[in-house]
Amino acid sequence: MIWEITDIPNTVKMNFPNTRFLVMDPLFALFIAPRLFKSKFRNMPMIPVISPEAGLFFYPDNFDTVVPMHSLPRISFFLTVVWSVLFGLHFYIWARLIRDMGVLEPWKTRLTLLLITLGILIPSGLILTRFAPRVLLAPVMWVIYTWLGMAFFLNVLLAVTDLAKYLAVILPVGLRDRPVDPERRLFLAQLAGGIVLFSNFGISLAGLIGATASAVQVKKVKVGLRNLPAELEGYRIAQISDLHVGPTIGHDFMETIVSKVNELAPDLVAITGDLVDGTLEQLRKHTDPLRDLRADDGVFFVTGNHEYYVGDVDEWMDYLRDMGIRVMRNERVTIQKGFELAGTDDISARGGDHGQNIPKALEGRNKNLPVVLMAHQPRSFKEAKSLGVDLQLSGHTHGGQIFPFHYVVALFEPYLAGLYREGNSQLYVSRGTGYWGPPMRLGAPAEITEITLSRG
Ligand SMILES: [Fe+2]
Repeated sequence: MIWEITDIPNTVKMNFPNTRFLVMDPLFALFIAPRLFKSKFRNMPMIPVISPEAGLFFYPDNFDTVVPMHSLPRISFFLTVVWSVLFGLHFYIWARLIRDMGVLEPWKTRLTLLLITLGILIPSGLILTRFAPRVLLAPVMWVIYTWLGMAFFLNVLLAVTDLAKYLAVILPVGLRDRPVDPERRLFLAQLAGGIVLFSNFGISLAGLIGATASAVQVKKVKVGLRNLPAELEGYRIAQISDLHVGPTIGHDFMETIVSKVNELAPDLVAITGDLVDGTLEQLRKHTDPLRDLRADDGVFFVTGNHEYYVGDVDEWMDYLRDMGIRVMRNERVTIQKGFELAGTDDISARGGDHGQNIPKALEGRNKNLPVVLMAHQPRSFKEAKSLGVDLQLSGHTHGGQIFPFHYVVALFEPYLAGLYREGNSQLYVSRGTGYWGPPMRLGAPAEITEITLSRG
């Protein structure tokens, strides 16, 4: 990531007339150095900062991204947190499974180096996703993301064993006053480590299986809507969400999903954002099965936050339209003279003419008909509700995706998954059809949602 600093103090500006000040992350620079030389920044001064991995969340074509200097500390803080978490995850694994288990040389050094390599691979791989061709990317990202998932489970399991150990020491079960015996301590560390490694293998495998296309379940939900005309009783919407087509979700996964949706023979298909994690160039072939989606009243799409992380969002929108998908950008359409279907850009969308605008999406609606709003993030519900939306369809949370990560997600997303009702408005939050990051799901099954409307 390169930031241009816009609020340079006047005294500095006087000394450096006609100069633009750029800040970049050194690790990121390594990856994009060849492109940088060709860019319009090649003759400009750079102020390198030893920052955490800045390239993680931004696309390298965003050479134009301009931020005021005063927001750098905030961005740096965020990235420091990301780095610290990655370091902490790996250090804990090293401490409990290599150091405490008494692994002997040369394996101790080898395994330590392996852990360091895996740790560094995670941010490096995430940067690669921005521009490497998918065919190279896929195997690398499978390794990286699977490791990330396993590292997460290892940490949870190690924390549980440490908690058990701690309880055994403080509770009156006879261990409290025993003298420390190094041999016994080593044996216990090895036993606990062995159990953790074995369980981790099983849990990770379950997680991997849970994230395959064949594990995607059809979830049936009945939603009562006031003012729904009698002719539309039993109308069925198939909702798919958060497919995250990218380095590990590709053509075969999509083909399975599309055929599962078509088997339901829905009246309408709603795709509620986070469809792609890559550029059109990288993923064209892998999104192609979407062409085969069939529904009498059409296939509709709204953007999610991820559509804005990767490349040119408008290029994607044109491509979806080309496939016969109706992209709903703060607009509305009347379905069978029976209900209004509205769709809004993701609440975090910025740049160009993108941005959430629910009032615009609802403009000119027939107030006698119920309104169904497609909006990627559940937090749009606050405004939707106040504007009289009857039902909002969202995704984004993945239902936490991997237990016990649910609890972390729930801190930020009070509407985690399922159907919620507040006053006369309802919100349905899908757990998502794909996944993001580790190709794993545990305790949050992926879903294609079949929403059946009724008069209520
Ligand atoms: Fe999202």
